[in-house]
Amino acid sequence: MAILELKNVSFGYGRDAGRILHDVSAAFETGTVYALIGRSGAGKSTLLGLLSALLLPTEGSVCFKGEDTRRLNALAYRRRCVATVYQDFALFPLLNVTENILYPLELQRVPAAEALARAEAAADQVGLAPELMVRYPSALSGGEQQRVAIARALAAGSEVILADEPTGNLDEQNAAQIVDLLVRAAHEAGRCVILVTHDSDVAARADHTLRLTDGSLLPAD
Ligand SMILES: Nc1ncnc2c1ncn2[C@@H]1O[C@H](COP(=O)(O)OP(=O)(O)OP(=O)(O)O)[C@@H](O)[C@H]1O
Ligand SMILES: [Mg+2]
Repeated sequence: MAILELKNVSFGYGRDAGRILHDVSAAFETGTVYALIGRSGAGKSTLLGLLSALLLPTEGSVCFKGEDTRRLNALAYRRRCVATVYQDFALFPLLNVTENILYPLELQRVPAAEALARAEAAADQVGLAPELMVRYPSALSGGEQQRVAIARALAAGSEVILADEPTGNLDEQNAAQIVDLLVRAAHEAGRCVILVTHDSDVAARADHTLRLTDGSLLPAD
């Protein structure tokens, strides 16, 4: 069964109902990487917002394990079931790197020692040097901030990872390493990974590519 499903979803901001997504249906499986492509402003981040229940569809439904996101406790859903790597990273400015990565684990009430071990393992996986762990986001480069955001999503352990241009600030080598991690999270740890990208090399690593264009979501592979 699909872990996430869009059923005849239409969405628009304000009075523009249906302008950004128009009658979109799609299913997303665990153990699979999806690349979401489309021009700037097409609605890719909006679509991730609908999948994480930050937004609700104007028409149709978004289902997680068959349950309409309108009926889920949205906060609990985002804490436990979906982790998002935001396009602008969304790090907490007053928390250092370790604390940023720990934050979702604290919300999930993971015991402190286990949480710290998971946070450190995730930081190591994304290639964050140990001396960065006590820095605040304002003292990190864009690429370092991006890797903190990815470590935070990986450490959270949720079944779905939504990553909005997760390699946009990284050089080729770091980008390839991050994509490897996301692919392994899907293929080895069985997660459902949906990543937005403008990079055709990144999209080529996904199992399926979907293009968002003029309100429709169509297979592009
Ligand atoms: N909160 C909002 N209120 C009104 N309009 C919005 C809002 N958020 C986004 N939009 C508009 O919705 C459209 C889709 O935005 P979205 O951020 O989903 O695009 P995107 O495909 O992620 O683009 P990019 O590749 O530039 O990140 C854009 O025209 C944007 O201006
Ligand atoms: Mg976007």
